[in-house]
Amino acid sequence: MTEFSEKLILPDIPNLHTIDVYEQHGGYGALRKALAMQPDAVTDEVKKSNLRGRGGACFPTGLKWTFMPKQSTKPKYICANGDESEPGTFKDRQIFEFNPHLFIEGSVIAAYAMGVKTVYVYVRGEYAKWIKVLQKAIDDAYAKRYIGQNILGTTFSTDVYIYRGAGAYICGEESALMNSLEGDRGYPRVKPPFPAQYGLWGCPTTINNIETLSNVPVIINHGWEWYSKIGAPKQPGTLLYGISGHVNKPGVYELPSGALLTDVIYKYAGGVPGNKKIKAVIPGGSSTMWLRGEEIEGVRMDADSLKAVGTSIGTGGVIVMDEDTDVLKVLARIAHFYHHESCGQCTPCREGCGWMEKILKRFVAGEGRIEDIDLLLDVANNIEGNTICALGDAAAWPVQSVIKKFREEFERRARKTPAPDVYVPPPHLVRLNG
Ligand SMILES: Cc1cc2nc3c(=O)[nH]c(=O)nc-3n(C[C@H](O)[C@H](O)[C@H](O)COP(=O)(O)O)c2cc1C
Repeated sequence: MTEFSEKLILPDIPNLHTIDVYEQHGGYGALRKALAMQPDAVTDEVKKSNLRGRGGACFPTGLKWTFMPKQSTKPKYICANGDESEPGTFKDRQIFEFNPHLFIEGSVIAAYAMGVKTVYVYVRGEYAKWIKVLQKAIDDAYAKRYIGQNILGTTFSTDVYIYRGAGAYICGEESALMNSLEGDRGYPRVKPPFPAQYGLWGCPTTINNIETLSNVPVIINHGWEWYSKIGAPKQPGTLLYGISGHVNKPGVYELPSGALLTDVIYKYAGGVPGNKKIKAVIPGGSSTMWLRGEEIEGVRMDADSLKAVGTSIGTGGVIVMDEDTDVLKVLARIAHFYHHESCGQCTPCREGCGWMEKILKRFVAGEGRIEDIDLLLDVANNIEGNTICALGDAAAWPVQSVIKKFREEFERRARKTPAPDVYVPPPHLVRLNG
């Protein structure tokens, strides 16, 4: 991993959200450059850069773009996903607030590469403040002919529209998002067919996250070779790490992918209040598997490194819990979220999320029984992999991982034994790799 300290997505430039300042710093230069290239060459550049999606699944972006049919009798669409409803994830809104033109420029370049004439930006409705900023930026970009008819005097035209979501986490799932955009209930669709074949209104569609698209102008400006050397080789670039929970300076920090988790927590987020020990960390948003405090040393924040320790990078939303945290209470709260947000289409998720919440609340109330631990695990295991979309997995993974990592907490509650005065992790969970 190379040392890299530049901020590519959220540089510290005052008023960068205004089009004048954005242009003064080279803004829309990448669009100009891209329009002088063949569309396929733009896609190729993104493909070679190894950019991977920032919406949670880390899918290679350039490869996804190649799935769009080149010739189509139907219109083609891009849905830019700004639903951002996962607890612990709050990075896309920083782009809307501080660098909306970077995202707009990336979307228009993507539209050019895939021959798309309409881009919908799906933004969660609660982001009213950021929708205003984004709309102003879109209006200004239209006025300067970066969006609209004959962009920058070329034959290429595309429109960009904002669509406000109505506060449902499920509508961030790409196929539910398309149903919601069509005016239907936000139910995920069975795949195949995949969106590139049958997406919005049955037309070829690409769904990309806001942060993903914001990386595109950077790649076009600097070239794939330069970009691919930043951070972790298999998931290059910078990531916007959102950090919350028990840290002194919660917020969004832009660092290269593969940054040390301990650096994110201690060097950037200022460590834990009162210098308390860390009991648990959720590395990538509420849907990702938990790490115990003793496991975080040496762990790097990228897809492969986190996979190696049994979890995932997700959206880079790090949640830190100190030694006094009641992990079962946190888990019960997360289970409540998933139960509330389950769309109800698939039985394992609809029923299972409710059962998980019920059992966890029983533990929190001091009424959990020893046999409930395996019952809870059984319910989670029966949700995982058995639903149309990944919301079921997102609900099951935290439960499975907390039972694995903090089983003694469940047992202590069930046996009604008090917590030890000094927190001592069980020896088998002390991380050995250093
Ligand atoms: C329940 C659920 C919620 C999701 N919410 C979001 C979201 O808010 N934003 C997002 O970009 N991706 C979200 N995703 C992932 C999208 O389905 C999709 O993979 C992503 O938008 C693709 O963009 P990318 O390839 O640029 O990462 C969600 C997935 C699931 C299962």
